[in-house]
Amino acid sequence: MKKHIFYLTLILIVPLTLYILSLKTVVPIPSDDSHAGITEVQGCFECHGDDKEYPRKKTHPPKDQCFNCHKADKKPAATKGYS
Ligand code: HEC
Ligand code: HEC
Repeated sequence: MKKHIFYLTLILIVPLTLYILSLKTVVPIPSDDSHAGITEVQGCFECHGDDKEYPRKKTHPPKDQCFNCHKADKKPAATKGYS
């Protein structure tokens, strides 16, 4: 019986953990003029490189394949209530 409770707990905890992790949403790439039409990661560093004008936070995840995590914000800004 103890064993059953152990497995049951495990079965419940795994999806719960995944769910909580999925809540840490990645901010989308804004759909403004600065970001329009950039298809190369190299372009991102023009502004978000460490020594550039808008460096990423120190806590930013280390990987440099921006598009793996950041997707373009498809919706035009107007539909989200600001212009
Ligand atoms: C021409 C300069 C420029 C380039 C090139 C650029 N960005 Fe940005 N980016 C900005 C500015 C300015 C902001 C707004 C900064 C702020 O509000 O702190 C911003 C904001 C962002 C944000 C949202 C930050 C937030 O807090 O909402 C993300 C994500 C982002 N950029 C990712 C990218 C990625 C990925 C690329 C490459 C495709 C890229 N940027 C290229 C200037 C640039
Ligand atoms: C492993 C996934 C991942 C990758 C790869 C990634 N990011 Fe991010 N990025 C995040 C997450 C998660 C956040 C939100 C972090 C936070 O709120 O502290 C974020 C936040 C940001 C922000 C706004 C907050 C800040 O740290 O200034 C900018 C700008 C940004 N990323 C730019 C980029 C650029 C440019 C690249 C490519 C060089 C990139 N990101 C690659 C996950 C990623």
